[in-house]
Parts: sequence; structure tokens; C-alpha cells
Amino acid sequence: MSPNAKQLTNTRVLVAKIPQDVAPNKSHFRTVVLTEESPALQNNEVLVQNIIFSLDPYIRHEFAEGQEETKVIGFAIAKVVDSKNVGFPVGALVLSPSNWESYTHVSRPENIAELLRIDELASPKVPLSAYNGILGIPGYTSWDSLHSVGNPKAGETIYVSSAAGTLGQLTGQLAKRKGLRVIGSAGSDEKVAFLTKELGFDAAFNYKTEDKREALTRLAGERGLDIYYDLVGDDTVEVALDLLNPRGRVVSVGILSLHQNQAPPAPHNLVNILFKQLRFEGYLVFERTENLGKFWEEVTPLVESGEIKFKETVLESGVETLAENYLALLAGKWTGKVNVKVASL
Ligand SMILES: NC(=O)c1ccc[n+]([C@@H]2O[C@H](COP(=O)([O-])OP(=O)(O)OC[C@H]3O[C@@H](n4cnc5c(N)ncnc54)[C@H](OP(=O)(O)O)[C@@H]3O)[C@@H](O)[C@H]2O)c1
Repeated sequence: MSPNAKQLTNTRVLVAKIPQDVAPNKSHFRTVVLTEESPALQNNEVLVQNIIFSLDPYIRHEFAEGQEETKVIGFAIAKVVDSKNVGFPVGALVLSPSNWESYTHVSRPENIAELLRIDELASPKVPLSAYNGILGIPGYTSWDSLHSVGNPKAGETIYVSSAAGTLGQLTGQLAKRKGLRVIGSAGSDEKVAFLTKELGFDAAFNYKTEDKREALTRLAGERGLDIYYDLVGDDTVEVALDLLNPRGRVVSVGILSLHQNQAPPAPHNLVNILFKQLRFEGYLVFERTENLGKFWEEVTPLVESGEIKFKETVLESGVETLAENYLALLAGKWTGKVNVKVASL
């Protein structure tokens, strides 16, 4: 049904409260199809039609008191179909903090503040889906955290976990361009080959088939590590703390293992932080978007020219497939960003 009419047909995924220590599975999600009144917008609010969902490893569940089921928060490239916000007029293309549903009413001030117009800056030389990944918030996170927290210097060695993923692909390539030696890990031999043969990593290993300590010690060699760019938040950090050189850095950005309710790590060697004067620092993108313009200025031409490569997947399917594709993403089925295109522009 047209969004201009009083009613909307909205396909929506709902998620149930997932008990502690249980990894998300299919039974936690259900899809409903609802006929709803098109919302009467208040000042600054917009209604968007979601076009290309970005499947991000985290999904935020926001349960109000006493609620056992809620909408799923997930970013999307979306089209504004109704608006009370001059910055986001009808027809504008935005990055939207949407829900897993056909139409999202963006009404909370913190969500309105997260809306980003992309129609004015999207490059015609790259697919639009790239703004969910390498040229979107994940790419910016990689670029900004590597520089602001990692402080990479030519000649140093960086180790990137989940290196074939959205952030990992860019982090490794940016570090390489800065003159670092780059080591990565990923969960299949195909991904490992992609890192070394296509993205130019100096070395990589399969963390599922090799012992992490043995592989990383061998690949770091006598030069050791200077930066651990942590996207997984698992016990690999204990190995890295042992291999880091004095004044090395741990850039804590992702917790892929915890998204699947794996036990959090309890490193026994934190004393390395003291004696090697290491820096262990977390990074959260939503508090640090002030350099987005600079990021697009610097990285867009590199992606357009192919100097920076990226692998992503665009699935064309319905809202009702988001949960199963999300679970497959966590299981490592795809390489890089997974987009689900649910409507045409
Ligand atoms: N701090 C921030 O502001 C910020 C911003 C954006 C993203 N993030 C976080 O950064 C992390 C990476 O995000 P992304 O979008 O680049 O995801 P991603 O790496 O593309 O995630 C998917 C991949 O994760 C890997 N994976 C899943 N479980 C794993 C585990 N237990 N150990 C190691 N690898 C595992 C799988 O690859 P394999 O086949 O290699 O296992 C899968 O293909 C996420 O935790 C995300 O939430 C943080």
C-alpha cells in the first residue's frame, strides 16, 4: 500500500528475549505482517522505506520493562517517504537507524540524530550498498579507530582479527598503505587466501584450523606485534598481550565472539600492560562521527579507483529472510558486508 495513504503494510521481524549464555537462533525471531496507520509525524520526524539492510553482527535489543518481544534495530539505506524534517525531505536517500521492517518511523531524538543523507555524496562509481559497508559507518569506524587509537607507524606490525570481515578488510589495507606489516586471521582457507592474494596482507592464518598462539607467534616472528586490532573480543587477546612490543597498542573495536554468547575472555597476563607500557583502548563510533567528511574525502577516491578493494554480498530477498541471513553471517557464510535488498529504489 502506498505510504501516502493512511495505512501501511509493514512486514516486521520481532525478536524474543534471548537467555544469557544462549547463542541467537531461529526460534528467537518471528515475522509478522501488519496493516498499520501511517504515523502522524511530529516535528523533525521522518518515515522511511527501508531499501538495503546492512546485516551487522551486533543487533541491539531494546526491551521496555516487562516486554518479552521487541523490534530489531538494524541500519539500512532507506528512502524518506514522509517528513517533518527539512534536512531529510521526501525522496531523500539516507542511512537510517531503522528496524527490521518495511517502513520505519524515525521518531526518537537519538535516532533522528543518527540519520545521514547519502544521496548528496554517494559516488556513481561504487554500488550504493557500499554505503552500508566500506564507505558507511563500518568503514569509517575502521579508518577512524585505526588512526585515532592505533596510531600506526610505517615499519610496525599490526594483527587484525576477523580480517576478512567488513572492518577487517579495510583496516588491513589502510595499514598496508601506511607501510605496516599486516597479519590477519579468518575462519576459512578461502578467506585466508583472499587476504594474502587479493588484499595484499603479508600473512594470514585460519583461526579455526590452526592453534592461534602457535600461528600468531610464528607469523609475528622476531619483530613481534605493535598493534592488535581486535574485532572478536575472545582469548586471542591473551596471545597478543604476550607478543606485543613495548608501547604496543590494543585497539578494542569488536566483540564478534560475544555476539554469539561465547564466554568472555579472562586474560591472565594483563601485567604485560604495565611492564611493556601498552595502551589498551576501546573505540565506539557513535560518539566519534566528527571526521566522517574527511573519511569520505580520503577513502572514496581509493575505493572508486580500486586501490582499496572490498568484497561484499547483496542478497535480494524479503524482510522475512533477515533473521536467517543474520544467523548465517555470524556463522561466517559470507566474506565482508552482507546486505539484504528488500525493495527497489
Ligand atoms: N566499536 C564500534 O564502534 C564498532 C562499529 C562497527 C562495528 N563494530 C564491531 O566490529 C566487529 C566486526 O564488525 P564487521 O561488520 O566487520 O563484522 P564481520 O567481521 O564482517 O562479521 C562477520 C564475520 O565475523 C566472523 N566471526 C563470527 N564469529 C566469530 C568468532 N567467534 N571469532 C572470530 N570471528 C568470528 C565470521 O568470519 P570468519 O569466517 O572469519 O569466522 C563472519 O564472516 C563486530 O563486533 C561489530 O559489532 C564496532
